[in-house]
Amino acid sequence: MKPNKLALILALALTACASPAAPAMTGAETVTDVPPVTAVPLAPVTQPETTLAPETTTAPETTAAPVTTAAPETTAAPTHTIEVIDGVTYIDGVLIVNKTYALPADYPQKSLTTEALNAYWTMKQAAAADGLTIKSISDYRSYYDQRYIYNNYVARDGQAAADRYSARPGHSEHQSGLAIDINSTAFDFDTTPEGQWLATHCAEYGFVIRYPKDKEAITGYMYEPWHVRYVGKDLAAKLYLGDGEFTTLEEYFGITSVYAD
Ligand code: DAL
Ligand code: ZN
Repeated sequence: MKPNKLALILALALTACASPAAPAMTGAETVTDVPPVTAVPLAPVTQPETTLAPETTTAPETTAAPVTTAAPETTAAPTHTIEVIDGVTYIDGVLIVNKTYALPADYPQKSLTTEALNAYWTMKQAAAADGLTIKSISDYRSYYDQRYIYNNYVARDGQAAADRYSARPGHSEHQSGLAIDINSTAFDFDTTPEGQWLATHCAEYGFVIRYPKDKEAITGYMYEPWHVRYVGKDLAAKLYLGDGEFTTLEEYFGITSVYAD
């Protein structure tokens, strides 16, 4: 391994996902904190696949006065289209990676996506205009970076504990190039002006707080007020509940986040 690669991995290990015992991160900005470069389109979507198990098609009846002559009213429940393309799962075109859905080790993205990078830069400048500094402390991580990080956490805390805050290789959103850890991996980041600004404004730039508080049973991970996932402005607006609160991709799409083993 080249020395600079080793240094990168070691740096990632220090600035990667949070551990409950990990100190707040203060590392220098990553390579993400350079101006975005020319757009490189993602590979086109080519293979339609299955659909998620159909959800109920009948809306719950209301408590309004009963209508005796009409048939029960129905409302089409939202249905979502799931596609698996080259081993990557997309729901309604949104890349999904969690404990249930993995990315291949050779997933070709090798940096933040251009869209995520540009959105990050726009968000960073907006925060600066409000007098706040936000910076990436960890963004794209390869399958092998994640394996190294995760294995270190397992060695330190045991697998059950590590699984609550660190993704197994192939299961980290950081491998997708769509996730960024902002400023700090301290749990009280959400009490800082930057953390509060991030929660309140990130959806305007297409990001969501991906692992909200009290959603571990749903997302599979402890609260991470620093971890934002780029989903695009339209979906971010749907997931943002106001007051810095978010619903999860798992709830929105009706999917699980559970390891098979
Ligand atoms: N900390 C998040 C879950 C990750 O390891 O990707
Ligand atoms: Zn993260």
